[in-house]
Amino acid sequence: MTRPITIAGISGSLRQDSFNTAALQAAAELAPDKVTVNLLTLHDIEPFSEDTEAGGWPDGVAALREKIAPADGVLFATPEYNYSIPGVLKNAIDWLSRPTGEGPITGKPAAIIGASPSPFGTARAQAHLRQVVFYNAMPLLPYDEVLVMKAGSKIEDGRLVDEESRDFVKELMADFADWVRLHTERKAG
Ligand SMILES: Cc1cc2nc3c(=O)[nH]c(=O)nc-3n(C[C@H](O)[C@H](O)[C@H](O)COP(=O)(O)O)c2cc1C
Repeated sequence: MTRPITIAGISGSLRQDSFNTAALQAAAELAPDKVTVNLLTLHDIEPFSEDTEAGGWPDGVAALREKIAPADGVLFATPEYNYSIPGVLKNAIDWLSRPTGEGPITGKPAAIIGASPSPFGTARAQAHLRQVVFYNAMPLLPYDEVLVMKAGSKIEDGRLVDEESRDFVKELMADFADWVRLHTERKAG
């Protein structure tokens, strides 16, 4: 019997009309049966400092950690800022990676997607995110960089409407569900 799984969805954009958040919402909508994608927000995450950490998890961080801990996998959608991932996303991952080697994201299977108004944006950011994911021992779904290019013509009013992109996201989510089950079952066994 197929085991139900939950995926934490993290968008690296805080923008209200974010293409990346829209791509994540499409992934949640197109996920196979028995796969629930919970979108988490990074709006309330304090800037990381080891001094703050020494005083205990700040409220926003504690809430994010609690939400991500029970997830079986993590799906990132990252914009590209200055050829890399946005600071808010890196900041959140820094919190979630603590304590080193025992953070709530450590070892969770991951997948990376991204959307960009330009033809190549997000690909370079995804390459950087791969490094961060690797350091956190997160088995990464072995796909090429996943792009919704020229997103302005494919995302309308916060919804991914381009059929080809939707088919691709659907296929990716089916593969990611298999990948998550493979890795979580292996861990449990
Ligand atoms: C600070 C900043 C830096 C950016 N740097 C890049 C970049 O290096 N390459 C690129 O293709 N787009 C860059 N962009 C454009 C964003 O990728 C684009 O605005 C994208 O739509 C943001 O993602 P969102 O729609 O999910 O908010 C940058 C935007 C901002 C605000």
